[in-house]
Order: sequence, then C-alpha cells, then structure tokens
Amino acid sequence: MTSTLVTSIGELTTWEPDRPVRHDAAIVFDQGAVVWVGDAADVPPADLRIDAAGRAAVPGFVDSHSHLIFAGDRADEFEARMAGQKYEAGGIRRTVRLTREADDATLLANARAIVDEMRRQGTTTVEIKSGYGLTVHDEQRALRLARELTPETTFLGAHVVPVEFADDPDGYVDLVTGEMLDACAPFAHWIDVFCEAGAFTVEQSRRILEAGAARGLGLRLHAGQLGESGGVQLAVELDAASVDHGTFLSDADVDALAGSQTVATLLPGVEFSTRQPYPSGRRLLDAGATVALATDCNPGSSFTSSIPFCIALAVREMGMTPREALHAATVGGARALRRDDVGHLRVGATGGLALLDAPSASHLAYRPGVPLVRQVVG
Ligand code: NIG
Ligand code: FE
Repeated sequence: MTSTLVTSIGELTTWEPDRPVRHDAAIVFDQGAVVWVGDAADVPPADLRIDAAGRAAVPGFVDSHSHLIFAGDRADEFEARMAGQKYEAGGIRRTVRLTREADDATLLANARAIVDEMRRQGTTTVEIKSGYGLTVHDEQRALRLARELTPETTFLGAHVVPVEFADDPDGYVDLVTGEMLDACAPFAHWIDVFCEAGAFTVEQSRRILEAGAARGLGLRLHAGQLGESGGVQLAVELDAASVDHGTFLSDADVDALAGSQTVATLLPGVEFSTRQPYPSGRRLLDAGATVALATDCNPGSSFTSSIPFCIALAVREMGMTPREALHAATVGGARALRRDDVGHLRVGATGGLALLDAPSASHLAYRPGVPLVRQVVG
C-alpha cells in the first residue's frame, strides 16, 4: 500500500475542533488512514498525488441505518402511496417472502451492488440490518451475508411478527430472545427492534433489547415513525446508541434525547417516500440533541442509497443548515455507531474522503440530484 496526497483542496472539512474547515488545504492517507493534514503550501512527499484543483472535500459519509439483505422490490406500493395510500408496516412481510426464497449468492450480490452504489455517492461506512428473514435460519443467514460487507451488522429479528406467529406474537418474542438470538449474536454487533403499532410494543421491545444487551450487543431502536410512542424514552433509558426515524416526537422525547448519549437518527428518505411530514432537525439541534442523517435504504419505506439526497432534504425540509446536515451525515452517523475513527478527517481517521465536483460542501444541498462525488480516497 502506498501513501496518497490530495492537494489544492479549495474547502476541506476535517471537523478538527479548533478548525473544522480549512481552505487551500492538503491531506495525506497511508494504509487508508489520515497521517497528515495541513496547508497545500507545506505538503510532505507521498507516493501518489491527486490535484483537487480547488474542489471541496468532505469526510466519507457514515450511513448508520440500512436494510440491504433483501430480494425483490415494492415499486407498486410506492406508486400507491404517491396516489394517496398510507405506509403500513405489513408490507415488510412481502419482502420477507421473497427474501426467504432467494439464494445466498443473489442476496449478497444485491446487497453488494447497493454498497457499491453508496460508495459512488460518498458513503464509506455502512450499517446493515437483518430483518427480512424472521426465522432462525434466515436471520442468521442475513447477518452472515451482511458481515461480508461491513462489521456494523444489526440483528433485527424483531422487524415485524411473521405470518406463522400472527396468533402468537409473544411466542415470536420468545423465539427472538432465545434460539434466534443465540444463532445471530455471533454475526451481529447490534440489536434493533421496530417499536411501533403493527410491529412491537414498548414492553416487547424492552424484553428484546435487554436480551441483546445480555449477549453483549449494542442497542438501537426504530421508534416514532408512524406516531408518538414510549419507544424514544425506552431507547434513552437503556442508553441505546441511536433511536431512528423520530418523525413523531413529543417535547418529552426531545428533552430526553437532549439529556442523553442516544443519537436521534433522522431518515428523510422515508418521509419523502411515504409522504409523511418531515421531522424538525432544528428542534432537536436547538434542544442540544445529537442528530444523525441516514438513508434507511430498504425496498419498502425508502429505496434511496444516497446520503447527498438526504442532506438536501434535511436542508430544504428539516430546518438544518448545509453544515449541520453534513455534520449529521458524518460525525452524527459515527456517533450513532459509537465510532470515533470515521466521519471526520483528523489524523488517525479511517473513513476516507469524498472529493466533490463543487467548490464547497453546501453544493450537496444546493445541487440536489446531481452526482457531485467525483472520487472517494482513503
Ligand atoms: O426502517 N420501519 C421499519 N423498517 C423499515 C421499513 C421496512 C419495509 O417497509 O420493508 C424502515 O422504514
Ligand atoms: Fe429502518
């Protein structure tokens, strides 16, 4: 492996505490890690040299929420929603059926293609959940495949109650917290639950998260997607790394998040694709909460792999400035995964850099839908 210098960077966002943005800057990577940051006038020698010619560079994005192990799509549901139909959690069962029928090679190739698509749009760290298997065998298989693509794997056996358990949801919770957890924990870093009407109650979610914690898994939660619930406060009480969606948040939820280490991960691709109201990032930031932005890439509620698209929505619809949205998609995502080695470009960082075909990072929101990521380095 050789060292790579990127120089003549017009605007370099490093998120260094005393100097978060540098101008006419340069950076050196060695073995994928940042080893030097400074002025373009003082560059050290390196094996390879990339001339950014005044372009902007940002840390590789951290997409802390995705569901990539699935087969098929649900474009018909999207079309129906655009014509006025409501999103319902039950659609998940359609993808479960198709995913169970697919072979390993197909599932892995589909997921890998989306990870590659993400990388072309600047994402260098991705979390991937199971949750379209819902049997011991199929959940373990999903995590085994996800592990091929990222260390940030999440066991989401509690995505929805599968049809076989329609009359016995607590029996399914017994399976998730017992045999399924035993089979999946070795392949998972995190455990997650969809805590929502039509999925799992707060009490069921507590049981599942506590069982995961007892097996050494980190905690995350889907909550507040379809209505307010006690899920957000459960996440804070259990010190979950992140509570995701937050489309509907009470004042007490916002206060609880602000006084905690739990990140509020907002997923504006979902509001876009389900025609729900966008949550206010401004309200959370003003209260002092840490906010992350992620795609939630999945075939039901948000089939986008693009963090730049989410940044644009956060700026246009959620009261966030372009800088705040970039912070949420980098540092915020890293905090949601309790990582401090990605989402920034200080010496030691390992998440790489996205070089933009633009003079400043605000173009990510200013030029929505334009493929601005020219190259990923590091
Ligand atoms: O994060 N909300 C739960 N799970 C996914 C949706 C999955 C689906 O509809 O297939 C989400 O939005
Ligand atoms: Fe999700």
